[in-house]
Amino acid sequence: MDEHGATLQIGDRSLELPAVPAHQGNSGVDISKLRAAEGIVTFDPGFANTASAQSTITYIDGTAGKLTHRGYAIEELANSCSFLEVAYLLLFGHLPNKNQLEQWQDSMKRHSLLNEELKRFFNAFPKRAHPMAILSSATNAISTFYEEYHDPQDEEAIVQSAQRLLAKMPTVAAWSYKKSTGFPYIYPRNDLSYVENFLHMMFALPTEPYHVDPVITKALNVLLILHADHGQNCSTATVRFVGSSQANLFASVAAGMNALWGPLHGGANQKVVEMLSDIANDPDATTESYIARAKDKNDPFRLMGFGHRVYKNYDPRARILKKFADDVLDRVKGDDPLLEVAQQLEETALNDEYFASRNLYPNVDFYSGIIFRALGFPLRMFTVLFAIGRLPGWIANWKEMNEDPTTRIARPRQIYIGEESRKFVPLHQR
Ligand code: ACO
Repeated sequence: MDEHGATLQIGDRSLELPAVPAHQGNSGVDISKLRAAEGIVTFDPGFANTASAQSTITYIDGTAGKLTHRGYAIEELANSCSFLEVAYLLLFGHLPNKNQLEQWQDSMKRHSLLNEELKRFFNAFPKRAHPMAILSSATNAISTFYEEYHDPQDEEAIVQSAQRLLAKMPTVAAWSYKKSTGFPYIYPRNDLSYVENFLHMMFALPTEPYHVDPVITKALNVLLILHADHGQNCSTATVRFVGSSQANLFASVAAGMNALWGPLHGGANQKVVEMLSDIANDPDATTESYIARAKDKNDPFRLMGFGHRVYKNYDPRARILKKFADDVLDRVKGDDPLLEVAQQLEETALNDEYFASRNLYPNVDFYSGIIFRALGFPLRMFTVLFAIGRLPGWIANWKEMNEDPTTRIARPRQIYIGEESRKFVPLHQR
């Protein structure tokens, strides 16, 4: 394709498809007139070749293994920023100055409490409820308290809703965990930072003072930044899809959370640690036997934390986390046999022709679970931590979509392959 686009040949007719140029990465061809002009549609399972949006938020170079947000390298953001700074960058397109950051942090403190009526909502779940189910349900439930902020075209309402969601999510997440333990819910404290406050609500008890460990705070800050956004992944595309019907921000984000929960997406971080524990605890299991299972097409097992739709190289977030896992373990926990199993598994996979020929490398979920575990988080909270991290990305994409005048309701076509015409048989004759 040149800068003018492409020509599609259909029998003896040809159709000019205009170019949609990218600043970096794959440019597109505009097929929006194809069906009207030719009566055909494109077929692209999993949308692997379809750009559903033009975006200025995140760029991924899957071949080089590079990730930038608003033009800044992920490595630099993870090294030098707070999670709230990165959230601001994603939402508003630029890094905050000192005043803007202070106001932004203050707004998080002003909105971190949940309405007391929501306590009854938490109480209604069974103790064994998965915290991801509570998280998405609570996000929907919170929308009922703020109906006057639902208009997706009202700029002020969008910023208010974004602040509320970001501010309340650590409280919701921590309470979903407290629910499963039976311990009292802990209220947010305005003298603590965003990440410290979350750790406090997760782990403090009313009976004694709780010291927030600065090493854990710093590590969690980096982890949240590494999860903050990632282009049109399954959950973000879901947020946009739902939002395209002009559903409110809370409802759209709740849908994204449910998409994240799946084991092929954010749920993989829990599944990775379950897989590593199975290998470590089963005397008959070896990394080789798990690799063999992952390669066996008759076995549904996949190597969790490996492979990615966009990266055909090492995921830069996994590269940061691999090194980080060693540091964090040294400082907070000492050894974890799972890290050794993970390293062996990675080495065996990367030297295996099956994984090499398919460009399958560790993704962000491969090492994140080991670090979450070292920081003291229970397994079932791992995907919730991913969700807290991804929240700014979901909101930024929802906001960008609503600001884009070319946005239309998402409504793909299908290729019908069912019965053509059947003679109806009344119930008493079937
Ligand atoms: N283990 C074994 N084989 C794999 C794996 C894996 N983890 N991932 C991909 N493959 C194989 C596929 O079987 C396929 O082989 P084939 O060409 O012989 O049929 C080939 O590699 C290409 O894989 P696809 O499934 O077509 O790739 P797709 O882009 O659709 O899927 C996905 C990407 C879902 C991430 C996949 O790699 C996977 O299931 N990984 C494990 C789950 C996981 O870690 N998910 C987290 C992703 S990161 C995130 O969402 C935050």
